[in-house]
Amino acid sequence: TTMETSAPTGQEPPPVRDWPAIDLDGTEFDPVLAGLVREGPLTRIRLPFGEGWAWLATRYEHVKLITNDPRFSRAEVARGRVTRLAPNFAPRPGSLAWADQPDHNRLRKPISGAFTVGAMKRLRPRAQEILDELVDGMVREGPPADLVERVLEPFPLYVVSEVMGVPGTDREQVHDWTRQIISLSGGAEAADRAKNGLYGWITEIVRARARSAGEDVYSLLAGAVARGEIGEEEAVGLAGPLQIGGEAVTHNCGQMLYLMLTRPELMARMRARPDERGPVFDELLRWIPHRSTVGLARIALEDVEIAGHRIAAGEAVYVSYLAANRDPEVFPDPDGILPDRDPNPHVAFGNGHHYCTGAVLARLQLELLVDTLLDRLPGLRLAVPPEDVEWRQQTMIRGPRTLPVIW
Ligand code: HEM
Repeated sequence: TTMETSAPTGQEPPPVRDWPAIDLDGTEFDPVLAGLVREGPLTRIRLPFGEGWAWLATRYEHVKLITNDPRFSRAEVARGRVTRLAPNFAPRPGSLAWADQPDHNRLRKPISGAFTVGAMKRLRPRAQEILDELVDGMVREGPPADLVERVLEPFPLYVVSEVMGVPGTDREQVHDWTRQIISLSGGAEAADRAKNGLYGWITEIVRARARSAGEDVYSLLAGAVARGEIGEEEAVGLAGPLQIGGEAVTHNCGQMLYLMLTRPELMARMRARPDERGPVFDELLRWIPHRSTVGLARIALEDVEIAGHRIAAGEAVYVSYLAANRDPEVFPDPDGILPDRDPNPHVAFGNGHHYCTGAVLARLQLELLVDTLLDRLPGLRLAVPPEDVEWRQQTMIRGPRTLPVIW
């Protein structure tokens, strides 16, 4: 209407929609999110926990804008009770996800060298070795096997411990804690105990490495603490999410393999042109509904106008990277999986200074996993009908609970 064009910020705020955490099967796009996209460009949502409502941006353009704009703060969210998916959350000092600039840069600096393309190149042979051992074990016992249990779950745990510099003698303990923290079945108390165990252990290892010249993350953090660049508590808060972050690879790769195992044309493309798998990985990263609802909010530090709406100072805003990745303005035929899509500027790893710290590491692991499994197991296929694959429930990150295969 003319009202909207002449006085864009005078628009009625959209209704607040409830976004329940529904358990979705398979790789279905969340129908609630699809509805919010249709209502958009900016809507308002209420998630299962926390208080009040928050804005939701679903268009690619707005998602990029918001995630690049320092007027939206993460540190403010940590202070409040913003509507959210998780029942509880306890931001720690040092955690990158909750830091605004200039703190974010200061915290990230000590560890950034450990996650670069160069560092990942050096890691590659060792990661391949770890993976080969896991696949050897599975092949030795013979089909059928659960790919999640045998390969997709342990591999990222082992690789991340390599990058972090977890000593061999402590690995089992560290992996036990990690498994309990991310497990859905152990309950909140077990997860809290494991968190205390892991964070206590991290504190000790950071202290023990104060004089280490190593290139592992714990040595890098210890050095930064010794030089006074970050506090010890911050080092621990920084390390925790990195040590646990491998979980994302397990489930994302689970979805990726499920798609290949249930879409013959996709599998055929991967097998026919093994040297040209790169763009397919990107297309799958774009398409895969990685998470349930949305991640962490941001809070407007001042009034900001977007798409004819005024987001007032103090109001919370979520962006949906999943929705942005299906924006037809940027990705023609957004719901199709087009292996040769070009360009493919997806935001599966986020955008702006909160861009995933582990993106290059994750990408390396996805490539190694898919390449190794496809190349070593030419007859790889599901051991059950696709509809019998069980999916994770009540979870932040979506993926198959098990992936029974034969070869
Ligand atoms: C943040 C995706 C694997 C560590 C993020 C964000 C996304 C993402 C979307 C949020 C960006 C934002 O807040 O705006 C993924 C995907 C993965 C993956 C799809 C696997 C396929 C990993 C791994 C690690 C990791 C393996 C660690 C070793 C982190 C950390 C952050 C983050 C520390 C917070 C960064 C910050 O706020 O500055 N990731 N991730 N991620 N990820 Fe990942």
